[in-house]
Amino acid sequence: MQRAKRLDLIPPYLFGEIARLKAEAVAAGRDLIDLGIGDPDQPTPPAILAKLSEAARDPETHRYDESPAGDPSFLEACARWFRTRFGVTLDPKTELLQLIGSKEGLAHLCWGYIDPGDVALVPDPAYTVPKVNTLLAGGTPHLMPLTAQNKWLPDLSAVPTDVARQAKLLFLNYPNNPTGAVATPEFFAEAVRFAREFDLLICQDCAYAEVGYDGYRAPSILETPGALDVAIETHSLSKTFNMTGWRIGFAAGNKDAVATLNRVKSNIDSKQFAAIARAGGWAMEHVNNDRTLDLYKRRRDILINGLNGLGWNAPLPQAAFYVWVPVPPGYTSMSFAKDLLEKAGVLAIPGVGYGENGEGYVRMSLTLTGDENGERVQEAVDRIREHIPIRWTV
Ligand SMILES: Cc1ncc(COP(=O)(O)O)c(C=O)c1O
Repeated sequence: MQRAKRLDLIPPYLFGEIARLKAEAVAAGRDLIDLGIGDPDQPTPPAILAKLSEAARDPETHRYDESPAGDPSFLEACARWFRTRFGVTLDPKTELLQLIGSKEGLAHLCWGYIDPGDVALVPDPAYTVPKVNTLLAGGTPHLMPLTAQNKWLPDLSAVPTDVARQAKLLFLNYPNNPTGAVATPEFFAEAVRFAREFDLLICQDCAYAEVGYDGYRAPSILETPGALDVAIETHSLSKTFNMTGWRIGFAAGNKDAVATLNRVKSNIDSKQFAAIARAGGWAMEHVNNDRTLDLYKRRRDILINGLNGLGWNAPLPQAAFYVWVPVPPGYTSMSFAKDLLEKAGVLAIPGVGYGENGEGYVRMSLTLTGDENGERVQEAVDRIREHIPIRWTV
């Protein structure tokens, strides 16, 4: 059977070559240090598991969740959390929506807004979901380059006026994957002004809201005056509570956008197991991620100090769990990632996999399985020193 032509619009999987080399290395029994995948290596805190188990024993959770926008205890907890964390008051009935993870929410937002021929403004490099789903919905992603000079924030003034007028969605993601960059309140204010001027909806992906270091706390775009008129923000429990496998997050913000997203979703999914939502709501108000953050910070410091000792000049990321470093002269992001893997047994993701403007960088994740105290990260640095010839001047 001929598959839908829209699937041909999905860009080629640029991590394929690295995935193949990784599979070969694993099959050959090599000891690989995998800095590739951005997935918390620590388990979900036991108190959340206990809540899940309690909720799972309530037969009410065994049935369809017929609530309009998600388990009320979850949405009310999200509203209280938003008020405490950001000082923003949201109506849990109209301004919040339970998601099966933020990935799901971002994808379905595209389906709620993009008709064939519509434009979405999408950062590059970026998490690929907004771009791919804009394409699948028949739209055109207009790429906004993120560069070191712009501190990895899109230059909205560089979007041509006719494109801005045509655009329906503006995607943002701060704290950012893959660059680890953060947004200032001033940038969010500029984005809100831009969205008002060109009548578009901002979709700000805040999946890494609670992954910050050295006292850094990410802002929500909804703190910006006027943002509730033009913005929706997606949040996730995945990275905060080591719950990537559970699949729960929420969307917050503009009422029409929340209703539109809910309209798409209610015709596609029937929400997730309500016990997950109940346990997640409880976690929002009773659990913190300080221990996990301490571990990421230790790894971050070892990795950055180690790489800088080898001649890099990489700043410490303040948020998210990625280190985004330029490749040494003479390499592309792909050739450097290949050398790292083949010569040093260290897996990093070539920046080009996140878009053409990711060329020249690799992403290393701090979620390293089997690393108790930073010792595997140190080993990665040692292996790079030993096996990769780096000349910073050519
Ligand atoms: C920027 C960004 N947004 C969203 C997600 C997906 O999060 P969730 O598990 O909530 O779907 C990820 C996961 O890596 C991500 O990096």
